[in-house]
Amino acid sequence: MMKTNFFNNTISRMKMASINKIKKNLKFTPLALLIGAMMIDNQALALSFSESGNTENLPWLLVENSDILFLVIINIILLGVFLYLKGMFNNLLNIFASSSKEKETKTTGTFSKMLTDAVPVEDEDKIMMDHDFDGIRELDNNLPPWWVAMLIATMIFAVVYIFHYHVFGTGDLQLAEYNKEMEKADAEVKEYLTKNAMNVDETNATVMKDSKDLAVGKDLFDANCIMCHKEKGEGDIGPNLTDEFWIYTGDIKAIYKSIKIGTSNGMPEHASKLNPIQIQQVASYVYSLPYTPGKEPQGEKYVKE
Ligand code: HEC
Repeated sequence: MMKTNFFNNTISRMKMASINKIKKNLKFTPLALLIGAMMIDNQALALSFSESGNTENLPWLLVENSDILFLVIINIILLGVFLYLKGMFNNLLNIFASSSKEKETKTTGTFSKMLTDAVPVEDEDKIMMDHDFDGIRELDNNLPPWWVAMLIATMIFAVVYIFHYHVFGTGDLQLAEYNKEMEKADAEVKEYLTKNAMNVDETNATVMKDSKDLAVGKDLFDANCIMCHKEKGEGDIGPNLTDEFWIYTGDIKAIYKSIKIGTSNGMPEHASKLNPIQIQQVASYVYSLPYTPGKEPQGEKYVKE
C-alpha cells in the first residue's frame, strides 16, 4: 500500500514538473531560435574567403573582429543553453530525491524567476482572475522583468533624445548632419584637388613655363592633336595654332576652353581623355608654339601679352 502511494505521488509530481518545464520551454525556445537565426543572417557572411587568383599576399581565410565576436556570442548562447539544461536536470533530480512537500515547491529555478517573474505553478490559484471563458482562465502574472527593463530603458532614451536633439539642440538633426558631412566632403575634395593641382579650369588656367610641363604638353599634342593641327601646329583640318589669328581668341583661358569642351565646328572635346592639368600642359604648349607658315589665317588677330 505504502509503495503504490509513493509511486503515484512520484508520477504526479513528475507530471506537474514536466508540464511546468514544457511551459517554460515554450517561452524560451522560440526566443533562442529567433536570436540565433537573426545572428546567422547578419553574421554568416562575415567570414571572407580570399578569391582565387590574387591569393599571393592574402591568407586563405580572413578572420576579422566580427567573426570573433560572432563566435563569442554563440559561445555565450551555448553556455546559457547548457546552464538551462543543467538547471532542468537538477530540478528533476530534486523531484526524485525529495520526499518532503517543501522541496517540491522549489521547482522554478532562480534564473527563470529572474527572466519571467512568474508565480510558481503551485501558487497559481492565488493569481487566477475570476473570469472564465469555456474553461479558459487568466493568470494575473507580473510582467517579465526584462520586458519592464526594456520599457524603462526606452523611456529614458526618449527623454534623453528629446532633450539632446530638440530642447538643447546639442545634437545635429538629420539635415544638419547631412550638411555637415557634405561640407566636410567638399573640403576634402578641395584639399585633394589643391594637393594634386587639379583645380584648374577655363576660368583660372595660366601659362605653364616649366620645361617639364611643356615637354609633357608636347607629348600630349603629338598623341592627340597632330592629325588635325599637324606636327608643328601649322594647321590642316584644324586651324593654324601658331599664327596670330584665333577664332576663339588666343589667350590661355580660351585655348584651355577650346581643348576642354571642344567647339561646334569640328574641334573635339578632350575633358574625357585628359585631366585638368594635362589640358593646361597641352594648352601651354600650344600657346608657346613659334610661328610656322601653314593654313591660312582664320579669325581675329590676337596679340599675346
Ligand atoms: C578631329 C580633328 C581635331 C583634333 C584631334 C584636334 N583639333 Fe583642335 N580644332 C579642330 C578644328 C576643326 C578646329 C576649328 C573649330 C572651329 O572653328 O570651331 C579646332 C580648333 C582648335 C583650337 C581653337 C583655335 C582658334 O583659332 O581659336 C585650339 C586651341 C585647338 N583646336 C587645339 C587643339 C589641341 C591642343 C588638340 C589636341 C589636344 C586638338 N586641337 C585636337 C580639329 C581638331
